[in-house]
Amino acid sequence: MRNLVNILDLSTEEIDDLIKTASDIIDNPELYTNSCRGKILGTLFFEPSTRTRLSFTSAMMGLGGNVLGFSQAASSSISKGETVSDTIRMVSAYSDIIVMRHPKEGAPIVASAVSSVPVINAGDGGHFHPTQTLTDLLTIKKKKGGFNNLTVGVCGDLKYGRTVHSLIAAMSRYENVKFVLIAPSELALPDYVKAEYLDGKCEYTEIAGLEESIDRLDILYMTRIQAERFESKEEYERLKDSYVLTADKLKSAKADLSILHPLPRVNEISVDVDDDPRADYFDQAMYGRYIRMALILMLLKTKGISDSRLIGVENSSLECTNTHCISRTERGIKRLFTSSGACIYCDQQAKTK
Ligand code: CP
Repeated sequence: MRNLVNILDLSTEEIDDLIKTASDIIDNPELYTNSCRGKILGTLFFEPSTRTRLSFTSAMMGLGGNVLGFSQAASSSISKGETVSDTIRMVSAYSDIIVMRHPKEGAPIVASAVSSVPVINAGDGGHFHPTQTLTDLLTIKKKKGGFNNLTVGVCGDLKYGRTVHSLIAAMSRYENVKFVLIAPSELALPDYVKAEYLDGKCEYTEIAGLEESIDRLDILYMTRIQAERFESKEEYERLKDSYVLTADKLKSAKADLSILHPLPRVNEISVDVDDDPRADYFDQAMYGRYIRMALILMLLKTKGISDSRLIGVENSSLECTNTHCISRTERGIKRLFTSSGACIYCDQQAKTK
């Protein structure tokens, strides 16, 4: 059994295979209409979603399978105090594959440890969102032809933007990829993402201004400031309009720039950009259905591989202080840390008690 918790659970060869399958589904959808006949996808969304939940639902329907699930925590027994572990034990008895979104970082690790069917992470707090990255990679392949030799600007909320963390992890494996990280200092990329995926692997610069770098970008990946993750409403109000991409600001950009955004957008891309031929974000959302079809097929086919991530040591002198980490709320799980003292659920450095 195989799960997708972090985009790096997939090798670059497997990502190539998924892109090939997705492209074949786009060209020949009729060949796949019975591929998952009799199979059930469980969609457990403890946080709101439009694209991820509905594209997974549409993907399973396009493969001839069925879907069950919920779209908000309030309509599940989590609202009565049930743990993630118990919820997943139940749903893995009712379905053949599970896709879950949860506000707590590391929740899919807890889920995959107890599930008897594959678990797909559809976003865990401000941590990772690997299937968005598959969508992004299919879009980049279609628009740019490949992944090497690209200068990628990522702009906005790089602290809480889970799509950014997964995109950086994935793209840093390709040759001569350069990142321009555009964010106010309060929303800079977390240290654990830099240490794990950038330092010593990829050239990158951190800047605060969008206009000063736009002319050298091959891809501009805009992101929403994630209101729901802020501890302080005042800080969100102060930072929420840090970046607004307009048609005017694109005048100095390359003619073949690809403008991406995982969506939903608020103000960060003006609607006057939508008609620009470089605006690829609606195509990007459309591709999500096909790459998720390919992923469901792949995970349902893979047998006999166990990929438990509960690898770490218990250390009673350490505590994870990340208030968004599942280890702080889930009952009955082991608090585990890596040898360098990071929490295995959220990857953030733990503190000595
Ligand atoms: N990109 C993305 O995850 O969108 P949703 O929140 O609508 O699923």
